[in-house]
Amino acid sequence: MAALLIFACLLLMHLACSWPVDPTKGFVELPLNKSNFHNDKPYDLPVSDRYSFVDGVHKLWVYSTDKPLFKNSATKPRSEIRIRGYDYSSGVWQFEGYGYVPCGTTGVCIMQVFGATPPRATTLMLRVYNGSLYYYKAGPVVLENIYDRWFRVNVIHYVNASKLQVYIDGVLKLEPPGHGGTNHYFKFGVYGENDSSYYMESRWKGIKVLTKM
Ligand SMILES: *[C@@H]1O[C@H](CO)[C@@H](O)[C@H](O)[C@H]1NC(C)=O
Ligand SMILES: *[C@@H]1O[C@H](CO)[C@@H](O)[C@H](O)[C@H]1NC(C)=O
Ligand SMILES: *[C@@H]1O[C@H](CO)[C@@H](O)[C@H](O)[C@H]1NC(C)=O
Ligand SMILES: *[C@@H]1O[C@H](CO)[C@@H](O)[C@H](O)[C@H]1NC(C)=O
Repeated sequence: MAALLIFACLLLMHLACSWPVDPTKGFVELPLNKSNFHNDKPYDLPVSDRYSFVDGVHKLWVYSTDKPLFKNSATKPRSEIRIRGYDYSSGVWQFEGYGYVPCGTTGVCIMQVFGATPPRATTLMLRVYNGSLYYYKAGPVVLENIYDRWFRVNVIHYVNASKLQVYIDGVLKLEPPGHGGTNHYFKFGVYGENDSSYYMESRWKGIKVLTKM
């Protein structure tokens, strides 16, 4: 009987960890409009050459041969939306979005929490390599078989506790540490990394920024 109870408890604990939850529970959703979405793209092209917004879906794409954000910059090409108006330096902040990566896109960052103690620039990067979603390049792998399907991404940044949480489809996948920094914001889209594919694309919908009051 005792063994059965212990087994039941262990099973419940396991389920509690892998059962989808709503990571936005207890958070307050902040208002977003067009002015909160700023496009970063190759400096020599209009936004519409690397971005579209149709039926609520942000589609962002870039080629490995594209120019960087600024002339004479050594950074890789990108087509990203930087959330504007909600930069933060303390508190608890959350990004939610549904992401989609077409087959073939690899060697690219699709979501980041910007800001860290130099020489780092970012606190978190979610990258695509060979069909899986990685925490930076070394991993761990956050999600396998990501191509050609929508997945829900919730990233929570506990600034004071210097901790983050990454949920995919409501399941906690990763709790990476913070990396300092005094100014943070969320970005999503495509930002080329080493070994990227020639064509890189990600799509996003249902973008929310939330915080704890
Ligand atoms: C959009 O949001 C900004 C910042 O939150 C606000 O100042 C502005 O009035 C809003 N614009 C519209 C058209 O709602
Ligand atoms: C992706 O695949 C390429 C080619 O097989 C390999 O060289 C590379 O190490 C892989 N990248 C990762 C992060 O697994
Ligand atoms: C987080 O740190 C900031 C700055 O040090 C402080 O003002 C704030 O009260 C802290 N918040 C919490 C929830 O601890
Ligand atoms: C990318 O490759 C270059 C050249 O091999 C190397 O110097 C650089 O450190 C790499 N960058 C990253 C982020 O791995």
